[in-house]
Amino acid sequence: MRITVSVIKADIGSIGGHTLPSPEVLAIARERVERAKGSLLIDAFVCHTGDDICLSMTHTHGVDDSRVHELAWQAFREGTEKAKAQGLYGAGQDLLKDAFSGNVRGLGPASAEMEFEERPNEALIIFAADKTEPGAYNLPLYLAFADPMYSPGLLLSESLHDGFTFHIMDVNHTEGDRVIVLPAPERLYDIAALLRDTHQYVIESIWSRRHPSEQAVAVATSRLRNIAGRYVGKDDPVAIARVQKIFPATEEFGPPFALGAFVAGDTRGSHNLPLMPVPINTSASTFFCVPMVSALGFSMHNGILSTPADLFADPFWHHVRDRVAAKAIEMRKQGFFEPATLPYSELEYGGIVVRLQRLDREFTIRDGKAEGAPVGTPAGVEGDNPA
Ligand code: 13P
Ligand code: MG
Ligand code: MG
Repeated sequence: MRITVSVIKADIGSIGGHTLPSPEVLAIARERVERAKGSLLIDAFVCHTGDDICLSMTHTHGVDDSRVHELAWQAFREGTEKAKAQGLYGAGQDLLKDAFSGNVRGLGPASAEMEFEERPNEALIIFAADKTEPGAYNLPLYLAFADPMYSPGLLLSESLHDGFTFHIMDVNHTEGDRVIVLPAPERLYDIAALLRDTHQYVIESIWSRRHPSEQAVAVATSRLRNIAGRYVGKDDPVAIARVQKIFPATEEFGPPFALGAFVAGDTRGSHNLPLMPVPINTSASTFFCVPMVSALGFSMHNGILSTPADLFADPFWHHVRDRVAAKAIEMRKQGFFEPATLPYSELEYGGIVVRLQRLDREFTIRDGKAEGAPVGTPAGVEGDNPA
């Protein structure tokens, strides 16, 4: 049976800052989606990571189905009305356009979708991240799908031995999204050369080489600043990974995420801090909004989802979180000095950009002539645009 898994998430408002959605808003989103079970949808699961509501849906209509996307859009719209009525912060934050136009991509919500022939014991992980950008998945997915130091299945399992194909998107290309397709392990160094730049090059999907029609991973690649032209909150990407048998095992994703790699995001979307694996339905951290990621393990049969396993909730992850917290605390000690803050090109706040432009005019060249070249403006950032 061909099944589509659609994961669509949005921040439509949160309590007392960028923390978590209210139970009432979450209930509206859940009810709207659950209502479609048995008709448009086969199954659905709704949860939140930080201030983002994540709708995980299964159906048979393929990726980019306008009815499924509209269902998600309407659920977020109705949730936003409640969020406004409750005075929640950033009500409707990720709904950047007024009208639905066939697909949520380009409208604000993040989406990752995958259509595949369901295996008899289909196993998959749904990742949901808050306070970070799509490139946050680059390193963990690279390690899980291309590095036998982390992913022993690449050595031990005959069906993983041929490696995987990486589809990598240039998310800042001026003429639209460009994609390059590179096979691992042959092009490993080229893949690494791109993926190290997490602001520009993002894993969009990963495919099996032994079974080329089998997709392993789909990542939400949209960057809100490119849609809105200014800072409106961080992208907070979702991702789907099929696991086991011809793909890496669930536990081979653990150590790559336990690294707590430094990623862009956190407070005002303008800093670097380590990515902390957290249980689902965790509020964003008061400690500088440290970037966080949750992972839901599902079994699926005929599109029906099992109760999820909360993959970053077992006792081991307390220790990981303590270590990630220690990394975050150390980084925060250097305050606004790079790399604690992002480089100029990635700064999300217009205020500092305007400040730097003003300062630029005060520079004089040593021989007495005034004015250097303008320092340049990151895409569309003007004035102070606090999320
Ligand atoms: P979100 O993108 O999760 O809303 O966070 C925005 C922010 O600026 C937090 O400091
Ligand atoms: Mg928010
Ligand atoms: Mg968020």
